[in-house]
Amino acid sequence: MNRIESLLDRMTLAEKLGQLTMTAAGYAVTGPFIAGDSTDAIKAGTIGNLLNLVGPEPVRQMQRLAVEESRLGIPLLIGFDVIHGHRTLFPIPLAEAGLFDPASWALTAREAAREACADGLAMAFAPMLDVSRDPRWGRTAEGPGEDPWLAVRIARAKVSGLQGAALADAESLAACAKHFCAYGPVTAGREYASVDISERTLREIHLPAFAAAVQAGVAAIMPAFTDLAGIPMTANAALLRDTLRGQLGFGGVLVSDYNAIGELIRHGIAADLAEAAALALKAGVDIDMMADAYRRGLPLALERGLVTMEQIDTSVRRVLRLKEQLGLFDDPYRRGATPESSEQLAQRRKLARSVAARAIVLLKNEQETLPLPPAPRRLCLIGPLADAPAEMRGPWWAAGEPEGQVSVLAGLRAALPGTEILQASGVAIDEPRKAGIAKAVELCEGADAIILCLGERATMSGEAASRASPELPGQQRALAEAVFKRAAKLGCRVIVILFSGRPLIVPWLAGKADAVLAAWFLGSEAGNAIADVLTCRVSPSGRTAITWPRALGQMPIFYAQRPSGRPANPDDHFTSKYLDVSNEPLYPFGHGLSYGRFTLQDLHLTPDKLSEKESVEVQVDVTNAGARAAEETVFLFTRDKLASVARPLLELRGFAKIALRPGETGTVSLSLAAADLRFLGPDLLPVFEEGEVEILVGPCADRSQLLAGTIRLCK
Ligand code: BGC
Repeated sequence: MNRIESLLDRMTLAEKLGQLTMTAAGYAVTGPFIAGDSTDAIKAGTIGNLLNLVGPEPVRQMQRLAVEESRLGIPLLIGFDVIHGHRTLFPIPLAEAGLFDPASWALTAREAAREACADGLAMAFAPMLDVSRDPRWGRTAEGPGEDPWLAVRIARAKVSGLQGAALADAESLAACAKHFCAYGPVTAGREYASVDISERTLREIHLPAFAAAVQAGVAAIMPAFTDLAGIPMTANAALLRDTLRGQLGFGGVLVSDYNAIGELIRHGIAADLAEAAALALKAGVDIDMMADAYRRGLPLALERGLVTMEQIDTSVRRVLRLKEQLGLFDDPYRRGATPESSEQLAQRRKLARSVAARAIVLLKNEQETLPLPPAPRRLCLIGPLADAPAEMRGPWWAAGEPEGQVSVLAGLRAALPGTEILQASGVAIDEPRKAGIAKAVELCEGADAIILCLGERATMSGEAASRASPELPGQQRALAEAVFKRAAKLGCRVIVILFSGRPLIVPWLAGKADAVLAAWFLGSEAGNAIADVLTCRVSPSGRTAITWPRALGQMPIFYAQRPSGRPANPDDHFTSKYLDVSNEPLYPFGHGLSYGRFTLQDLHLTPDKLSEKESVEVQVDVTNAGARAAEETVFLFTRDKLASVARPLLELRGFAKIALRPGETGTVSLSLAAADLRFLGPDLLPVFEEGEVEILVGPCADRSQLLAGTIRLCK
């Protein structure tokens, strides 16, 4: 008999339920704290998994209780939200998505895993794969942006980065992809609200990233808090059992979200904990995080005949198998055994700096306001985010301490030691007081440039941070308007750096500023990275992975809209448009300028007629007509104009990057398999249809900037 079966044979019901329970060890983060001090339960073998316990020593102590003092000595599985770094923080996922660089996505996950493993952890509740098309939803910050194709690439990179070459390695974590599934389209962008979308949208937009995570071997998946058309995901047997485990072939562990099993009662589909626990278990949820519903509810559910011991055993087996795969039975102390060297930490900070610099999106740059002149005499740094190191961390700072994060002020001082830098907050991020505005504006006198650092507090995005009006909070608009006014009088340029976990609705600001940078939340090295871009050490190359709306009422907004039977026409009243605002976003998906100036020409498609088994090679010449070296991202979209189901106006199929010196021309090549142009037909089964497909290539999802050609698909 193998180890798992022999353990199962010897386990009491209480010990089995312990393996299906995860509780917070130290403190509660996002919900009620239920389990209290767990040490006795760990010794009794009735708690088998922990979250929020960090550090080699505390982990070792708890692990010792489980391994040496419990009857069966089963090691603990310890998880944590390692979302965009652990101690060293990388840019938030929405920002990092804009790198369009799978190697970097994987590398930051690898480094986060190493750092978390050195802290004794064995599971990361990541990657977060929820596609979001509604910036009101705060968790947009944590995810891959609006595009399902992009989300698939990120899923692969993140799972492979977190899990490394083998789960048993001391530097590998079990990834727990979340939140399955379709959490992003919560009603009106409101956190934890109901979701009701079509089966097609579910399958085309929200499932592919999870399918990719499964293919990449993800060890665990977390169901979303939300219901889908009345069935909460935590009890959604059709999706968890039939689709995820059945069709997608997921054999790993399902970890409930925080207290989500208990919340089935509030959802109104379970009368008590026993029913809630039975529904979740039967849907295939193996680990109950923080509801204590399995320990308290399943014994009753067994008595009532709502579940069987076989169903409990199936979940216990999956949990024990994961612990075995993680190498925890062989050496429960392997993670956290070796402290990291200062060299490793320094290298990681370097990576954080370069990734952060590449995540910055230059949204606007009139008259080459940026980069700054080589040695500015005096800069004026204004705004509540100019010297706010802790805010740089973003919404999921894991074990990142507030100290040790680099603010914009600190970054600029280090980069420009000869420059006088005057700094004032002017206003707080989110308070009604305007008192500091006048003093801040006075500083502008005599400055070579004014840098305005505006935006959200880090906790205004992320979980439970929906905003009905995602605009600049507090009195920041009043501050900015006052600065613009003074700058106009002084003839001084204003550069705006926007910090946010989502696109903010700021058309007025984008109109008035000379240059605008989206800095999202860039993590530990934020200030240094921003200084790198301002001073031209790095030419900006980040792109927005989400459409940037110009008005609240445009949301949800995304580039891959389906065609209307009455496309917008300003001269025709009865067409698809708003009376009060343009349909166009402020900035399209993929937008981002650099310090170069790129032109694309000579699109070649070979062959231009292909069958399902063939690929088309797409080639385009890119020239940097600007005066500085820079990197361009070229996107490949398709448009299937005539199909049995109306296809979106643009669909992302590829991207490539090319670095060019001034005056240099290079060729970008992308390969597109005809089989990838299959889509879900009228009956939701994949079909390959003959006919013409447009190939569109260019710098973003703005149709007017794309070069177009046509291929013909044949059977
Ligand atoms: C969040 C999850 C997270 C969990 C544990 C929940 O509130 O929805 O994403 O992994 O808490 O911290």
